[in-house]
Amino acid sequence: KKPAGAPDKSLARPVSKVGVIGAGLMAGQLALLFVRRLEVPVVITDIDQERIDKGVGYIHGEIDKLADKGRLSPDGVNKLKALVTGELDKKAFADADFVIEAVFEKMSLKQQIFAEVEEHVSPEAILATNTSSLSITEMASELKNPERVVGFHFFNPVAVLPLLEIVRGAKTDDAALATAFQVGKQLKKSCVLVKDAPAFVVNRLLTRFMGEVIASVDEGTPFEVADNALQPLGLPMSPMVLLQLVGPAVAQHVNGTMHEAYPDRFGLSENLQKFVDAGKTAVWTFDESGNQIVDPEVAEMWK
Ligand code: 3HC
Repeated sequence: KKPAGAPDKSLARPVSKVGVIGAGLMAGQLALLFVRRLEVPVVITDIDQERIDKGVGYIHGEIDKLADKGRLSPDGVNKLKALVTGELDKKAFADADFVIEAVFEKMSLKQQIFAEVEEHVSPEAILATNTSSLSITEMASELKNPERVVGFHFFNPVAVLPLLEIVRGAKTDDAALATAFQVGKQLKKSCVLVKDAPAFVVNRLLTRFMGEVIASVDEGTPFEVADNALQPLGLPMSPMVLLQLVGPAVAQHVNGTMHEAYPDRFGLSENLQKFVDAGKTAVWTFDESGNQIVDPEVAEMWK
């Protein structure tokens, strides 16, 4: 069934090479998914060779794990590994038809990266962004061909969660959007078209859950109570465990975007800022007996 709002699929362009900008955890998961499902060359890039090598190493390791689980033959392992390469120079994207960025959530950085990529790729190559909350229209605004920019927003863990938010910017054309839907289908994701609004749909809902747990703890309710209160609803993980999975800095950034857009509905927490600034990654930890407890340093930050 055609997803609501998707253009006619005859407009979609084929994708025979993919570029991934960023070699961090999210970018690595994306590169893995693309190479597994599309079986085309995937080039990843980052700001230095060390990060690139680490990213390629992660993808190779995950391919080995798939083989261990019996999901890939030895031939399949070699084929997929050979399709993944790391390059420092974005010239390597020259013949890519679909480039996706998953770098730090900073608008000016993403605009600069897309402008640089545009110098190397064909005018029809899609520029996709995995941004969690930033405006697709603004990201495309300075480009020569803004009609090729689409939001392509995945959820962690990428290999497991089926949803893919596809975002149309003000200038995105039907061919780019149709290509995005086609690629999403090849990746076996459930694609939904969402408005180019702050944090799109899913993150604005999740921000609410997480923000209200934080606000309750700011007001004096212990994490043990506030974070476990929704468990009877059958959530796969509590909001603060999800915070750890998403990464507190990313979650804080999404919250900042929501606060800017809707200051009366999305508050800021000084305690959460302290937590992020201290480089903390988790609220929960384990004691010597293996019981789950709130990290004492974190509890201290909220006193
Ligand atoms: N990375 C990769 N794979 C993972 C993983 C991870 N962090 N965690 C679990 N998996 C895989 C396992 O390997 C397993 O795969 P297999 O079937 O091939 O062996 C499969 O997921 C199921 O794992 P488990 O049985 O161990 O665990 P659960 O059944 O408890 O599921 C979960 C784990 C899928 C993470 C589940 O708890 C869940 O869905 N949690 C909610 C996650 C969520 O809401 N994510 C959205 C975050 S928002 C976001 O990403 C947007 C961004 O912009 C901020």
